[in-house]
Amino acid sequence: MNKLITGLFVFFGPMILFAQKTIPIYKDKNVPIEKRIDDLLKRMTLEEKMLQTNQWTYGKNANENNIESIQKGVRAEIGSLIYRSINPVYRNQIMRKAMEESRLGIPILMGFDVIHGYRTVYPIPLAQACSWNTDLVTKACAVAAKESRLSGVDWTFSPMVDVARDPRWGRVAEGYGEDSYANAVFCVASVKGYQGKKLSDPFSIAACLKHYVGYSLSEGGRDYHSSDVSPQTLWETFMPPFQAGVKAGAATLMSGFNDMSGVPASANHYTLTEVLKERWKHDGFVVSDWGSVENLIAQGLAKDRKEAGLKSFLAGVEMDMVDNVYVDFLPQLVKEKKIPVEKIDDAVRRILRLKFKLGLFDNPYVQELPEKERYYQPESMAVAQQLAEESMVLLKNNNQVLPLSNDIRQIALIGPMVKDSVNMMGSWEGQGIASVVETIMEGFEKEFSGKTTLNYAKGCGFEGTDESGFGEAVQTAQKSDVVIVCLGEMKKWSGENASRSTIGLPAIQHRLLAELKKTGKKIILVLSNGRPIELGDMESLSDAIVEIWQPGIAGGTPLAGIISGRLNPSGKLAITFPLVTGQIPIYYNMRQSARPKIGGYQDISNEPKYWFGHGLSYTSFSYGNVKLSSDKLSKKSKLIAQVEVTNTGNRTGKETVFWYVSDPVASISRPMKELKYFEKSELKAGEKKVFKFEIDPERDLSFPDSNGMKRLENGDFYLTINHQRVKFELIN
Ligand code: BGC
Repeated sequence: MNKLITGLFVFFGPMILFAQKTIPIYKDKNVPIEKRIDDLLKRMTLEEKMLQTNQWTYGKNANENNIESIQKGVRAEIGSLIYRSINPVYRNQIMRKAMEESRLGIPILMGFDVIHGYRTVYPIPLAQACSWNTDLVTKACAVAAKESRLSGVDWTFSPMVDVARDPRWGRVAEGYGEDSYANAVFCVASVKGYQGKKLSDPFSIAACLKHYVGYSLSEGGRDYHSSDVSPQTLWETFMPPFQAGVKAGAATLMSGFNDMSGVPASANHYTLTEVLKERWKHDGFVVSDWGSVENLIAQGLAKDRKEAGLKSFLAGVEMDMVDNVYVDFLPQLVKEKKIPVEKIDDAVRRILRLKFKLGLFDNPYVQELPEKERYYQPESMAVAQQLAEESMVLLKNNNQVLPLSNDIRQIALIGPMVKDSVNMMGSWEGQGIASVVETIMEGFEKEFSGKTTLNYAKGCGFEGTDESGFGEAVQTAQKSDVVIVCLGEMKKWSGENASRSTIGLPAIQHRLLAELKKTGKKIILVLSNGRPIELGDMESLSDAIVEIWQPGIAGGTPLAGIISGRLNPSGKLAITFPLVTGQIPIYYNMRQSARPKIGGYQDISNEPKYWFGHGLSYTSFSYGNVKLSSDKLSKKSKLIAQVEVTNTGNRTGKETVFWYVSDPVASISRPMKELKYFEKSELKAGEKKVFKFEIDPERDLSFPDSNGMKRLENGDFYLTINHQRVKFELIN
């Protein structure tokens, strides 16, 4: 027997060794990634390279019976798919096809819009920003990444970091509000959550910063329209979140739909190549937005699809989302020598690099766990609840009508939002399921059961003119001690292609509130919406207002807890609420007016309804005097600012301290003030905490010029915290 084994080894041994040696370098996980890519590129035909630069969709229809045929239609060599199924088994089947049926076995990158959660739906990003809790946002993105990965997704088209300056634009829901610094900080927090410590970790997915760049300035807030972005504004406001995300290691970016002052974002060599690749040294890739290569024709930059492909590719868009322009025309353009082969190789290298970094060559398949082991895990639900709680903003609380007093016996819950589960999820609900969403009613039932009677009436729909429910609503209010009116926006009113000419709620909702007010009962208005709302008479008709945004899967319990007083609200607005739509744009860090005292509108106040940063608590905080380690600092030194904050109320609460810098005189005029740092902390009743901000001149006192070069200029600066303003000087 032994002889036989020895004989076999003598015969087959060299063949085994030979076979081992001939494993292609790109398949050898012990070889450094760049060498593996070099090897693979050498083996690839032009057509195989082209296919890597294309993204198609998988599972477009909801009919699972057709999935198999779609899978057959997918080219095994395709670079990427938008993976719309939740089933890891299908993903593995498609992947197997790529690994085993394509000549080189290159894995497919599966992307999906995981914007505020995958199955466990979190509050919309605008709401998340109002929590000012970056750790929580990181945790939410990490849960979303894990659920996505276990369902077959490797790459999310998130975070969106388009700074929101016009709330008529429906997509303000998807970003982190009006401030550039806040967008940058939350961008980093989410990239950390999605990508984890390493992209190759089993539950990491690649992030995609979008929409690069200037999309949120779409004229008049109309989606997909052109945006006029001056170079100065580009660098001051719109680039910083992208730059921060790139620095944090974001694997990819998505180029916007918008024509940016004549050069569309998807054909913009300056932003895509000169800045992103050459200046910021980004080694990942750029995917176009849905059809935004072909859109260059509509935008008047290309006469046909071929020219659109040429312009977009040469500008620096490496992957073409769904419109097939690259696959149809790039080979021809290479043959015509309009696109150098080196440029194709660079694009393919970037795409392959991500696949290698994600570990897809070595571990192409995902675990096939049953749904109950993938979604709604207790720790995911806890994050969903806490994030919903911390993002809710108490806008108004006259005479401390909230929290409700203990002698309340009957609560009226009225309005189209009370039993809603669909709209509470928000516009990018991922793979969320409405029937799992906790409604406001359900939250109240848990909170008040056995203690208080809940009387419900719908009152009216979200829009229309049907007032037939008003009578029942009024009777319901009359027999109750307090009236909670839950109004707001349908989810389809915000998000993509959901711009509105006015940001007020439909008249029927105003009329319902006015009728309820006539009962003389205390009115608590609960608002659920994807953008700031023009409140109009709703503000004066309400004794208290709680903004809950679109809180996702777990908003009912946190809201009920805030109303009962079990929870203390701590959210603060990440976006200003204009007084009227005609005030737009209005944001806290506008540039200075030439005649501040007399300019502006003559027919209305120049103050918005609620500024950025506004948000009330059930406790009170007092701020001591701000102390500076010195009133002068040099360019190479640091200055420490400190303020002692005391919880002067009688219950625990969370306070967010915002540190703003103003530079009153500079070679390029500066906004009135700019947020440079924030910190949120919990303080018990009577507790004091010293909040610190270390001012680094290079980071906090410099500003960009119109080409993004930093200027740091000597002179006086002011630090504003709460209502205090202290002066310091930058010297040499
Ligand atoms: C949106 C992107 C999204 C993409 C893929 C586009 O229409 O603008 O934000 O990631 O579709 O779904």
